[in-house]
Amino acid sequence: MSKPFRVAVAGLGTVGAGVVKILEDNKDVITKRAGRPVEVVGIMARDKTKDRGIDVSKYKWSETLEEFLNNDVDCVAEMIGGSEGIAKDCVEGALSSGKHVVTANKALLAHHGAALSALAETGKVQINFEAAVGGGIPIIKSLREGLAANKIKSVIDILNGTCNYILTEMQQTGRDFADVLKEAQEKGYAEADPTFDVDGIDTAHKIALLTSIAFGVKPDIDHMEINGIRNITAEDLVHAEELGYKIKLFGICKNINGKLVKSVEPCLVPLGSTISAVDGVLNAVNIEGDFVGTSLSVGFGAGQNATASAVVADIIDLARGNEIPTFGVPANDLVDADWGDVGDSVSRFYVRLVVVDKPGVLAEISAIMRDNNVSMEAVLQRGEDDENVPVSVVITSHLVKQSNIVKALDLIAQKQNLSESPCLMRIESV
Ligand code: NAP
Ligand code: HSE
Repeated sequence: MSKPFRVAVAGLGTVGAGVVKILEDNKDVITKRAGRPVEVVGIMARDKTKDRGIDVSKYKWSETLEEFLNNDVDCVAEMIGGSEGIAKDCVEGALSSGKHVVTANKALLAHHGAALSALAETGKVQINFEAAVGGGIPIIKSLREGLAANKIKSVIDILNGTCNYILTEMQQTGRDFADVLKEAQEKGYAEADPTFDVDGIDTAHKIALLTSIAFGVKPDIDHMEINGIRNITAEDLVHAEELGYKIKLFGICKNINGKLVKSVEPCLVPLGSTISAVDGVLNAVNIEGDFVGTSLSVGFGAGQNATASAVVADIIDLARGNEIPTFGVPANDLVDADWGDVGDSVSRFYVRLVVVDKPGVLAEISAIMRDNNVSMEAVLQRGEDDENVPVSVVITSHLVKQSNIVKALDLIAQKQNLSESPCLMRIESV
């Protein structure tokens, strides 16, 4: 029998404990596929007494990072999380001492991916991170290897299970946002800080990593407009459905005339499109390549089993001796992207304005839209008997430059003295 592939696991929460469980439960198939046994040697977390659903007494427990990194292993699996602090020290320490790293930590790689990739190359080791983006799909391998022949035109994805779960539950049951978020946290989908999920930061980390592989650029989360789902109301979900759409939080990166335009934003997608049926905690990644055409992949991107499955697949890859640069090209060849302005992008839009229902309101809104070259496709208003009660006016536009419609909405907000900011969402035909 070949020499075992030795692993140390840092972090034994939702994902880390799942990794240990899979390595125990599926030892037979994993050994066959890796061509050698894969052994967990060391483990580390904060609280040794916590029940994690695994027998921690079978493994060497480290009290400090220094002790943990002294384990004689081939690979460190970092499942702690966070872009700084102990997770970063753990990954840097492992790479610097010639150990491969497998991580589910998108925050760390989105912020420090280029430097960590260079560090791995210097030490002639690998960083694998399938679990960091849509673990159950698995999209990193698909994009970095399966689609390597293509120039990529666009990447449009549902990448946050928590948000997709919340939007789906709100739409299907009419439950409120806070109630559904609590349930997602209990199920182990949410980040340690769930604002990362609902404010779009988690999706931003993930789209930054996919953008890097798709376009050969350094991971970057600065050049991106990021909007989460916090301001989407049950009313928006109802109006969207009435107009023939669902609302999904998308991470988007498009190559528009040689410039990359990246954003995280809730968008309307036509009911009946394949991606609109991707509900609950499922993720979906839609990639358009110049030769492959469109490729849509769907799977679970959050939760213990799907995430740990991706981590263990990465460990098996390393045990097999497979080598590939972190982001698909050598670290030195990753370039700074030429970023475009999302305001220049042309789309159809959904707008909801809360106005006082009095004579001339719609006329003034239409005039401002006209003056800014915004052509309205549909207008919906449900009146109230009491003219003092504000009402929603919902508008969909024809294709228009985003900066034009934003300018029109600013003017409408001033002229109508709106009590709420207008809600603006892109309509994406994925
Ligand atoms: P989690 O349940 O909060 O687990 C974090 C683990 O790290 C815990 O075991 C914790 O120890 C340990 N830890 C924290 N600080 C530590 C320290 N200073 N020293 C030693 N151990 C420390 O988080 P998770 O959901 O498993 O997420 C882990 C990583 O996977 C994150 O990068 C996350 O973004 C990523 N991820 C998660 C999911 C998901 O569905 N949950 C999916 C994809 C990717 P204690 O248990 O003793 O407190
Ligand atoms: N919190 C993340 C989500 C976990 O909800 O998708 C997976 O990265």
